[in-house]
Amino acid sequence: MSDISDDAERIEELRERINRHDRLYYVENAPEISDSEYDELFKELQKLEQDNPDLVTSDSPTQRVGAEPVSELDKVDHVAPMLSLDAVHSVQEITDFIERARDEAGDTDATFVAEPKFDGLSIEVVYDDGRFVRGATRGNAETGEDISHTLRAVRALPMRLVDAPDTEGQIALRGEAMLPVPSFQKLNRTRVERGDAPFTTPRNAAAGLLRRLDPSQVEETRLAVTFYDATGIDIDTAATQWALLDRLRDLGLPVLGDSVRCGSFEDAKEFHGTLRDSRDDFDYEIDGIVLKLDARGDRDALGTRSRSPRWAIAWKFPPRTEETRIADIVFSVGRTGAVTPVALLDPVEVGGVTVARATLHNIEDVHRKDIRVGDTVRVERAGDVIPEVAERVPQPGVERADPLEMPDRCPSCGAKIERSGPHAHCPAGIACPAQLQARLVHYGARGAMDIEGLGEKTAEQLVERGLVEDIADLYDLSVANLEDLDGFAHQSAQKLHDAIQDRKQVPLDRLLGALGIRHVGADAARRLARAFGTLEALREAATRDIDRVAGIGTETAESVRAFFAEDRNREVLDRLCQAGVSPQPIKDAGSSLEGKTFVLTGSLKNWTREEATEEIERRGGRVTSSVSSETDYVVVGTDPGSKLEDAHDEETDILDEDAFREMLD
Ligand code: IVH
Repeated sequence: MSDISDDAERIEELRERINRHDRLYYVENAPEISDSEYDELFKELQKLEQDNPDLVTSDSPTQRVGAEPVSELDKVDHVAPMLSLDAVHSVQEITDFIERARDEAGDTDATFVAEPKFDGLSIEVVYDDGRFVRGATRGNAETGEDISHTLRAVRALPMRLVDAPDTEGQIALRGEAMLPVPSFQKLNRTRVERGDAPFTTPRNAAAGLLRRLDPSQVEETRLAVTFYDATGIDIDTAATQWALLDRLRDLGLPVLGDSVRCGSFEDAKEFHGTLRDSRDDFDYEIDGIVLKLDARGDRDALGTRSRSPRWAIAWKFPPRTEETRIADIVFSVGRTGAVTPVALLDPVEVGGVTVARATLHNIEDVHRKDIRVGDTVRVERAGDVIPEVAERVPQPGVERADPLEMPDRCPSCGAKIERSGPHAHCPAGIACPAQLQARLVHYGARGAMDIEGLGEKTAEQLVERGLVEDIADLYDLSVANLEDLDGFAHQSAQKLHDAIQDRKQVPLDRLLGALGIRHVGADAARRLARAFGTLEALREAATRDIDRVAGIGTETAESVRAFFAEDRNREVLDRLCQAGVSPQPIKDAGSSLEGKTFVLTGSLKNWTREEATEEIERRGGRVTSSVSSETDYVVVGTDPGSKLEDAHDEETDILDEDAFREMLD
């Protein structure tokens, strides 16, 4: 028997050493020992902890792996509100910022720090006496979601700060979690192979990974973190932002990218230009620079708007674009029968993300942009946005194909396509294999029934082989059925089978959304679920009762009624219920924007104006048409109108699309 106090000492020593090597490897990029030497230390610690279960602590390196999944993400209040940044694009706006900041700080020579603006997931991480206690997403800035369980598996995040135990009290850090672009590409390759939809951007992937309930696969994805701000490190310790960054590094925390101290606008401009030109050389997505007043003591004099500090500003980069060729244009049939042209591109990397297809929206858009097969085009990707064919790049002297024409018949089932204005529609419903396939994918998607593994390839095979003729058939699939599909083995078949069978108790709104009723998106589904409470009540409701629900228009009401009136749908619903699908009444959606007034200007990439309005109203906010002293926020898209100037005059908080999205998140 070994002596317990010897074990305790050795355990402590091993933890210290492992932490140090984690830091050398993940933070400083300068490992001192080989992987196998590291593994040995790790195994020894595991063994000693096994022998001495009383000595296991939650911050031990061994606890990063194999942790139990949580049942849901708890809400946590942030130590300090997680402010966002005003984003600007022009030189004038930056010089204005510098001038105003100096003016208000009462220091005409005030310096600034310019940092890379990382496009990751904002996180708050809290340490108590130098030990990791928890981490959270930004949420609504005051309250976020507890992601401690997944953050523990991120090796780049120290579980103990270097000065610990001298680091007394609480430190709340502010930073970003990011998935390096190569890891993002690797993750997507595996997802596509498994039939899961790829993540659109590294940022979405990081958010998806960290918000998982089960932390088990997070470790292997090599998430990175970086920090740029902290509460709990006072002015005496770090009088400037520059010193604060150094202090964070001294604590063993990752501070990625080189920042610079700027004494003038020219310095900031140089940094902006250099970083913009070299941003493809980094493993992380950088979408601009952040300029911060250096003297932390002067920040109070500038204060904050309700959600962004006045002492910092984001200077964004223009969207990335690349040129490529349109190899072909195909027509894709969606879940509701919409037939849309899709450009198949010679694959091109646009800022680290390979783009091989891009929607062309509709035939009128194609004609307006005059895009044809074989054309060279400019593909654009801004932040989180799905890649888009921005414009044609004329190639003088090169012969062009004929203009694109809408086919007469559905490319999937051959039914005659119906046209209305720019839109085209296949009327065959689920008799059309493409629509059925898309419906299955929609049914199993995250946010709907959340059936992991029911991706496009799987759905395609299920339809092709006649195993599934409507969504209720999913519940009759046996493991043996699934095992036969390409790309499946016993274990994966069992997994998908379980995923289908285990997800039968869902909130009513999720089921309604999953059914893919025309005009019923997440918002309408929530309103209907709240108003009717049960599926039975909604099934039997008359159009006028549905129409009465706030936020549900007549068209939607009619579509809902028509859906539930149709025999085939009623039969599918009965079979779903028999299979054990049991929708649950929903809890209230919350009211994060209660009492807030918004004005929208310019066009947003991710939302139509109506959609943005809905998102705001759903959270209890209001949208008005002009800026006044009553306005809390102006949401600014591309080509904003004079409302942007009004917003400056009124000193209203300005949100770009990213900030708006963050607020909705
Ligand atoms: S400072 C009070 N610095 O960009 C501190 N933010 O679009 C306010 N971001 O919400 C943030 N890199 O999540 C700051 N070097 C950096 C940043 C940074 C990325 C994120 C942050 C913020 C978002 C605003």
